[in-house]
Amino acid sequence: MGAMTEPSPWWSRAVFYQVYPRSFRDSDGDGVGDLDGVTAGLDYLVELGVDALWLNPVTVSPMADHGYDVADPRDIDPLFGGIEAMDRLIAAAHERDIRITMDLVPNHTSSQHPWFQAALAAGPGSAQRERYLFRDGTGPDGLLPPNNWISIFGGPAWTRIVEPDGRPGQWYLHLFDPEQPDLNWENPEVFEDLEKTLRFWLDRGVDGFRIDVAHGMSKPPDLPDMQIAENRMLADMDSDPRFNHEGVHDIHRNIRSVLDDYPGAVAVGEVWVYDNAAFAAYLRPDELHLGFNFRLVRAEFDAEEIRDAIENSLAAVALENATPTWTLSNHDVEREVTRYGGGALGLARAKAMALVMLALPGVVFVYNGEELGLPNVDLPDEVLQDPVWERSDRTERGRDGCRVPMPWRGDAPPFGFSTTADTWLPMPPDWAALTVERQLADPESTLHFFRRALRLRRQRGGGSALTGLSAEGGVLTLRTASGLTCVLNAGERPVELPTGEVLLASTALAGGQLPPGAAAWMV
Ligand code: GLC
Repeated sequence: MGAMTEPSPWWSRAVFYQVYPRSFRDSDGDGVGDLDGVTAGLDYLVELGVDALWLNPVTVSPMADHGYDVADPRDIDPLFGGIEAMDRLIAAAHERDIRITMDLVPNHTSSQHPWFQAALAAGPGSAQRERYLFRDGTGPDGLLPPNNWISIFGGPAWTRIVEPDGRPGQWYLHLFDPEQPDLNWENPEVFEDLEKTLRFWLDRGVDGFRIDVAHGMSKPPDLPDMQIAENRMLADMDSDPRFNHEGVHDIHRNIRSVLDDYPGAVAVGEVWVYDNAAFAAYLRPDELHLGFNFRLVRAEFDAEEIRDAIENSLAAVALENATPTWTLSNHDVEREVTRYGGGALGLARAKAMALVMLALPGVVFVYNGEELGLPNVDLPDEVLQDPVWERSDRTERGRDGCRVPMPWRGDAPPFGFSTTADTWLPMPPDWAALTVERQLADPESTLHFFRRALRLRRQRGGGSALTGLSAEGGVLTLRTASGLTCVLNAGERPVELPTGEVLLASTALAGGQLPPGAAAWMV
């Protein structure tokens, strides 16, 4: 019998566009973006050339962590337009051949979820409490938390409750905000409910999920103390029992077996696991289809560092013959224009890095506003909303600066994002120069550059394997199986380009030379 070659799934070289729904476009004038706003922006996204959307959480939520605290996973929050708005978005996106993926938050719920409310009311030892991680305290009268775990947002990962009889009672675990209690994944009801959620959205036409904290969920049963070295979500410390516990893989297998009932459905996990073998374990054929790899986000603008990040990411997925993913930014990290130095320098480097990313094999994630070259915004204390700000006793400013709404048109805030100037985060007046409208009128704009890059990527078989990767003298060179060469100058001086035709450059080229902080695609 001849070998059968499976056709590649739709996502294998896709460009995903991450929509932070609060900040994309507001259709009803309340200052917060919503799903009808996303629908209204679909033609813009078609012109940009994306294949799929990843929507940050839009399900019912008190918004303590802007939707990552889910009170009802099978309905859309009225703030975002309710379930009809989701149905309209799915239909309108599919008409345009754009797939829709949703954020799924299985590690925790909102403290307003009926399950948690029932757990509080039912008391210690009840079946209701068994859906979460309630424990008695330690020390005299249970005054101290059950172990020393700390929350990713700062402070202890445990909060003590008041029992129904009014007495101080048990503690519950929350790796994030106290309003995000961790679920007990040892309890079969938890997966049963997740399965309902998966099928609910897949049956409505959703094409897949981004799985939040996909290396969380499972916890060691005895909840041993952690060694408090550095509080971060990246599980690169064997001594951190909060993440990457082996039980997590059964959960992914169970999720996968549901997705497999829906041909084409994809799951991409947020897997902050540093070790290549441990990371690859999430991409075994019966687990996640894709895992976010954050090495490129963490790399400085340095040819060797970037090369190492790429090599490492490729080596990790190669262990399971899985598809690599790439991203330069998202709603949790400082925008790359700012990371790479800010101003004209940061923007030039961000565009150069976009050409590197879009030349890489596999799947790419572009975060809304990246295509406009938006920088991070320095917001005044009084408008900060990220729970990180208060939880860290106002020492960490949190992630609001990368979540400021998109500027669409006009000369003053809210720049067509909304009809009210009172947007959920204030928009900087100098974004007048960065609006979609302005950039469409300027053929040299960042937006036109992204459109050209995405079009060329598609036309030229982008996302195909690398045949060469080197870093020398501050210059990074990639060659792809489809015949593209990408050269990045991360050094200090202009460099000669190899002979060939320049398809696209991130900046104007002077006499065949590539300036510092620039990249070019060549054939
Ligand atoms: C993920 C999300 C982040 C959220 C956290 C808790 O890291 O990307 O925004 O705060 O999970 O759900």
